[in-house]
Amino acid sequence: MNRAERVGLLGLGVMGRNLALNLRDHGFDVLAFDPSPTARAAAAALGFALADRPEDLAPQLPPPRTLVLLVPAGAAVDEALEDLAPHLRPGDVVLDGGNSHWRDTARRARRLGERGIELVGLGVSGGEEGARFGPSLMVGASEPAWRLVRPLLEAIAARSEDGSPCCARLGPPPAGHLVKTVHNGIEYALMELLAEAFDLARRSRGSDHETIAELFETWRRGLLDGFLLRAAVRVLRTPDPETRGPLLASLRDVAEHKGTGSWAAIEALERGVSAPTLHAAVDARLLSSAVELRRELSPLFPSPVARAETRRAELESALVAAAVAAFAQGFALLRAAFAAEGWPFAPLLVARVWRAGSILRGRLLEPIARAFERDPDLPCLLLDDELLASVLAGLSDLRAAVSEGAASGVPVPALAASLAYLDGLASARLPADLIQGMRDLFGGHGFERVDRPGRFHDLWRGRPSKGSP
Ligand code: 6PG
Repeated sequence: MNRAERVGLLGLGVMGRNLALNLRDHGFDVLAFDPSPTARAAAAALGFALADRPEDLAPQLPPPRTLVLLVPAGAAVDEALEDLAPHLRPGDVVLDGGNSHWRDTARRARRLGERGIELVGLGVSGGEEGARFGPSLMVGASEPAWRLVRPLLEAIAARSEDGSPCCARLGPPPAGHLVKTVHNGIEYALMELLAEAFDLARRSRGSDHETIAELFETWRRGLLDGFLLRAAVRVLRTPDPETRGPLLASLRDVAEHKGTGSWAAIEALERGVSAPTLHAAVDARLLSSAVELRRELSPLFPSPVARAETRRAELESALVAAAVAAFAQGFALLRAAFAAEGWPFAPLLVARVWRAGSILRGRLLEPIARAFERDPDLPCLLLDDELLASVLAGLSDLRAAVSEGAASGVPVPALAASLAYLDGLASARLPADLIQGMRDLFGGHGFERVDRPGRFHDLWRGRPSKGSP
């Protein structure tokens, strides 16, 4: 693409406005539209050319036209495409930079593809600052569309330390949004793990916000350093101008969510992939919203008495082990989903795209990238020696952190889920034999034996306990 070319942009919310500025910094001429007069006025004040209606965008762009959508995921994307589509021609490219569900992207790409119009499913991570100064870009596109938009996307993307853009084509159109969904599943998991460490320090150990911020700050020397850890430190240290105490202490303890974390968890269930930390993180947000019930029940439960003998976990290494488990689940989910869709999976590219600009950016992505450099077909991150070593180094602290939570009544669902995941994978024999036995007893579902192949059934004539069965 010629850099002087005009790019259309539909949606001038926070993300759209910042991406417009980023595009302009890199020499692109942005023609924008937003239905909100306030958003249009703000963009005009920044000197952007504006279209009066969405249908006026395409005719003012040179063919093949490039149009970026930054509108809320869901119906707004379909509406925007309905407005735009009649004015698009074969070869034109529309990039959907919202958090769309990948199945919606697949449907939209098929529909537009019937008319020769290319849809690029663009996973964008990094929030407002990322959009402005360099997001991580997870691209789902056909080869021809990728050739057209690659220069533009690489120009505006974040750069990793070696200078390479954090932007790659990861598969066909829906692949970009699928990877973004799993990114968000891991994002929820890492946020929840940090929140649980905070709660253990606050409620089990009685530390104040500044002490916890200092503790978190020391972790920046190790594998936990990353955007989310730094964000947590900043939040912990921000004062409330009204109370003069920590602002955090004035916040309602209800975690909101827009859905992508749940999509990742649902994806794991549908694909039959174990991802307990991802589920626990979503569930913790759901439980947090039961505010009235929590207020009502909290005085009815006895306060747990933390026993003196409870060992205080070294939370840093516990969190490293738990975070590796969360990444392992996310990559296993991606591998299974890509295989089921028949898309080639390049995990190294995913790790590289996340290593700058994204919310997941952080030191842990370095050993993860090295693991996939060593073996691009690695089925599970725990099979990599380096990552396994960091998990094993933190395992007893993870156990201690979960015990500490249980002993002091501080819920640690994501830490516990990570531990259960690791313990499950470390168990050569699980109690699934009993499940199979019961399934066969009441449903005649059959079972396999350890000593010979085949499918078996038994009448289970063992001495019954009193009553049924
Ligand atoms: C990113 C984020 C972003 C997401 C927010 C809010 O990578 O920049 O994932 O896309 O929208 O983090 O997500 P929730 O409202 O679901 O917490």
